Amino acid sequence: MSWRRYCASAEDTQGAGHAFARVLRPGDVVLLSGQLGNGKTTFAQGVARGLGVSERVTSPTFTMVRQHECVNDLGITTLHHADVYRVESLVEVRDLALGELVEESAVALVEWGEIASTVFGRDVMIVDFLLEEDEGRTLVVSGALTRDRTAPLDQWASP
Ligand SMILES: Nc1ncnc2c1ncn2[C@@H]1O[C@H](COP(=O)(O)OP(=O)(O)OP(=O)(O)O)[C@@H](O)[C@H]1O
Ligand SMILES: [Mg+2]
Repeated sequence: MSWRRYCASAEDTQGAGHAFARVLRPGDVVLLSGQLGNGKTTFAQGVARGLGVSERVTSPTFTMVRQHECVNDLGITTLHHADVYRVESLVEVRDLALGELVEESAVALVEWGEIASTVFGRDVMIVDFLLEEDEGRTLVVSGALTRDRTAPLDQWASP
């Protein structure tokens, strides 16, 4: 199954992230996959808002991973926001130990995570970001998402 949503503006991309946050459960890993500038960080900002992060969420490109405290009714207390674009090897990604970090009450969003999908050691969700000719973006959600938790995506197209 996959869910698709066209986003005409950065505000829409953030709104999609905000809506997507409602499918998340503690322990989830979400890979954000798309070319440079296709909206991954913008989406992560919306997810953060949906999870009740109050601090500003910026690109973790140079720090590789940032932690944000969350306040919500989903049992998620920490958002790990990573960007593995600059890593030189899979070993480096493995050393970030994102899979272990998200146990308990955290979730992880990993920009460029598809380049290292083998190191997460679990089923992951994937959000693909496609650039359209009009500069809008199409977001496609797929991966480890059981039916009982897809209600927040009901407004998205499901081909
Ligand atoms: N749906 C959209 N329509 C038009 N512009 C958008 C849309 N979504 C995001 N943008 C804009 O695209 C630019 C790049 O977004 P963003 O930094 O989120 O991309 P990214 O995928 O994280 O990039 P990188 O690969 O460098 O990490 C920003 O200026 C953002 O406002
Ligand atoms: Mg980014």
